[in-house]
Amino acid sequence: MARPKIALIGAGQIGGTLAHLAAIKELGDVVLFDIAEGVPQGKALDIAESGPSEGFDARLKGTNDYADIAGADVCIVTAGVPRKPGMSRDDLLGINLKVMKAVGEGIRDNAPDAFVICITNPLDAMVWALREYSGLPHEKVVGMAGVLDSARFRHFLSLEFDVSMKDVTAFVLGGHGDTMVPLVRYSTVGGVPLPDLVDMGWTTKEKLDAIVQRTRDGGAEIVGLLKTGSAYYAPATSAIEMAEAYLKDQKRLLPCAAWVNGAYGLKGMYVGVPTIIGADGIERIVDIRLDKAEQEMFDNSVAAVRGLVEACQGIDPTLA
Ligand code: APR
Repeated sequence: MARPKIALIGAGQIGGTLAHLAAIKELGDVVLFDIAEGVPQGKALDIAESGPSEGFDARLKGTNDYADIAGADVCIVTAGVPRKPGMSRDDLLGINLKVMKAVGEGIRDNAPDAFVICITNPLDAMVWALREYSGLPHEKVVGMAGVLDSARFRHFLSLEFDVSMKDVTAFVLGGHGDTMVPLVRYSTVGGVPLPDLVDMGWTTKEKLDAIVQRTRDGGAEIVGLLKTGSAYYAPATSAIEMAEAYLKDQKRLLPCAAWVNGAYGLKGMYVGVPTIIGADGIERIVDIRLDKAEQEMFDNSVAAVRGLVEACQGIDPTLA
């Protein structure tokens, strides 16, 4: 059987890390696409030359031609401009919307059967626009946010409790941004929910609130430190986890920005929810029950995402 083909649209910091991870994990052959000439070719060659030492056989190719992504099984999109210090995700809207048009059309014309994972920010609006421009089925176009947000939450919780990150599970809902909703009562250490751990004296409500806030600000914290770009190791790893779930039909329960039409009382929009990812793409939206406070936070997040989508429609009326 031929190896799966993974097309990475955008060969910047995240794109290069994605290519490296996909090769090391032997998820398939990798095509790195970018408009910058030489960058995808150089990164593909550099990573390919790590093959003998690392011991992988994946082929890597860099290109500036969409024809080379033909027949891709997975496309991961990072094309665009990353956030700079002081810039909100929403500032990026206008610039990256134009990029999504070019990328969506490139995927539509060359890899219409692919499972498409969007990483470009502002995420919830960009994944929606990418789906609109590409015309692919909604269940095959998804945004990477929740896996990263919950990974950050899990990391901070593991430090607080001094336990393995593997034993911490965390649930994050809503938009990828300041309004994201970390669900404390659905987050656990070895199955013990966080509120119980407060009762057991493992932490305090105040410390937990601070961790929730740090999770919400997780992207900005890295931007502030790096000064010349945004996070890329953890975002790339999160998208690879989603790609692997699709390619291996793992039926993983992963939070991501998915098309929600009916669940959560929503009528057709992209927002972060728990999903099942398998060979059919988004196979199920997991419609968990929210209490009043959680519902309010989720509604707030949904409203923020709607505002971004409306702003996109204002910029490009063909999206209306
Ligand atoms: N088509 C293809 N590639 C493009 C296009 C386009 N129309 N426009 C820009 N690019 C490429 C750039 O040439 C660059 O190589 O996208 C790449 C983006 O890479 P970086 O600037 O290094 O950004 P990165 O850190 O990888 O983040 C990419 O993910 O998390 C988000 O906010 C982040 O939106 C940003 C995206």
